[in-house]
Amino acid sequence: MNALHWHAPDTPLRASVIRASALGFGVVIGLALAARPWLQLGPSYPAKVAAGKKKTDEVLCPMCHLGEFAGQNEIPRVAGQHYQYVKKQLADFKARRRTNDAGNMTSVASTLSDEDIENLAQYATSLY
Ligand code: HEC
Repeated sequence: MNALHWHAPDTPLRASVIRASALGFGVVIGLALAARPWLQLGPSYPAKVAAGKKKTDEVLCPMCHLGEFAGQNEIPRVAGQHYQYVKKQLADFKARRRTNDAGNMTSVASTLSDEDIENLAQYATSLY
């Protein structure tokens, strides 16, 4: 029987091979988890996400969209929506290029700066 046989974890060499593989695997998983927010749907930086969340509380987005942009009835879910899409919708509401919102979003968006829009899009995209 070969010392590296899968079913024979009883030699020091075999034990260190297992430990080394487990460590390597842990590092790979750790790096994958750390990279995930950036791999997702566009850039998602923690500071922008935090600023976006703060802004939702100031501007009362949750009053209509509920907490964490879950959505309700005719008010759409924005959580996990694509970053570019959210950013474009907010900019379009602000510029009144999109006006199918009965005035709700155009009026909310008129108070938002470009930086707010960026942060809000990052925050909404970070949710799922
Ligand atoms: C007064 C209620 C109200 C508030 C407050 C509000 N929204 Fe909305 N929002 C709506 C409605 C209603 C729609 C759907 C408009 C439509 O039918 O196209 C909408 C649509 C959107 C959309 C487009 C979704 C899509 O799928 O196209 C985004 C993005 C959005 N809101 C983000 C926000 C953000 C960010 C805030 C806070 C800054 C906010 N909303 C605050 C009512 C609101």
